[in-house]
Amino acid sequence: MKLLASRVQNVGPSVFAEINALARAHGAINLSQGAPDFDGPPEVIGAAVAALQSGLTTQYAPSTGTEALRQGIAEHARRFYGHQVDPDQGVLVLGGASLAVYFAITGLIDPGDEVVLFEPFFDTYVPNIEMAGGVARFVPLRPPDWAFDPAELAAAFTPRTRAILLNTPHNPTGKVFSREELAEIARLCQQWDVLAICDEVYEHLLYDGATHVRLATLPGMAERTITISSAGKTFSATGFKIGWAMGTAALLDGMKRLHEFSMYAVAHPLQQAVAEALRLPQSYFDGLNAFYQPRRDMLAEMLRAAGLKPALPDRLGAFYLMADFSDIFEGDDFEFARHLIRDVGVACIPATPFFSAGSRALGQRLARFTFCKKMETLQAAQARLAPR
Ligand SMILES: Cc1ncc(COP(=O)(O)O)c(C=O)c1O
Repeated sequence: MKLLASRVQNVGPSVFAEINALARAHGAINLSQGAPDFDGPPEVIGAAVAALQSGLTTQYAPSTGTEALRQGIAEHARRFYGHQVDPDQGVLVLGGASLAVYFAITGLIDPGDEVVLFEPFFDTYVPNIEMAGGVARFVPLRPPDWAFDPAELAAAFTPRTRAILLNTPHNPTGKVFSREELAEIARLCQQWDVLAICDEVYEHLLYDGATHVRLATLPGMAERTITISSAGKTFSATGFKIGWAMGTAALLDGMKRLHEFSMYAVAHPLQQAVAEALRLPQSYFDGLNAFYQPRRDMLAEMLRAAGLKPALPDRLGAFYLMADFSDIFEGDDFEFARHLIRDVGVACIPATPFFSAGSRALGQRLARFTFCKKMETLQAAQARLAPR
């Protein structure tokens, strides 16, 4: 009996499942997945509890999202970026940013269409493109700044290109794309008349004065850009799985159809909590930098002390560092990650799953570590990583 449809035959397994299981089995301190080991803001948790107890959110939310959340998303876009979004037609609430990326690709990409993306990339992107029958065209980002060569980017666009899939601030490198880099991307999108799908889940996690520029706000981009974000990283609530897409009604049409005829609507009480979260005062969003920057510094320091070489781009965001371990370990990235879990008691993510098959060599001596952890978690990791 055939058990797998051909579209999923080459998908997975996810590196996160293997590393998390191994970390659990060995009691390792887990700096692998980008999930905080602390709760989000108490106001937001309180709003979720209140929404549950109100008796008003036990039934289906509207398919595109509750009015309060769609308004909250549009207000947040205007407040932080001057990005004008229609809360009725231009916002779609979905089960997390990863589902939004999946729906954007599935709703817009036909078999044979090409999608340009930078590598390394968030590991769901390529399976998403391939499940739609699309073809990924890769443009390398190179350490230590994770810059791209504009000529290589230009060469990736062809008459078959349908979209570019961009992630800024970037997982796994932490790179924050500059206004000039985004302007070059915008220029190519317009020259080739293609769409941009922009995953901005780390939009509020920025260090050393880096600023996040929203591609959709660049001239000529509003009508061709789907902007995606979610509550998970900004509000330390990855378990909520509340994400959203913004764009013109026409751009969101395919995604809305997919959503209506699959999940239909997402968790109603949590939408109300995120509506309040997006309206938190400026001090909350500013506080994220003050909270994470010392953790970033501490992680960089402990990795250096252990003999690794973390790449720290000039404009850094998100909550990851990629580090080169070749000075202290002979094997490849998976062997290193397994060794670190078993023999040192710290978990990281091997980097090759973030690279295309043709470029695996670029990730073979790299590992990704996250600093979205309590200070005591990072201190415990530091103690284990310290040279003896
Ligand atoms: C770039 C990127 N996009 C999307 C996600 C997932 O977001 P969500 O949990 O809202 O689906 C992640 C999570 O690590 C991510 O790094």
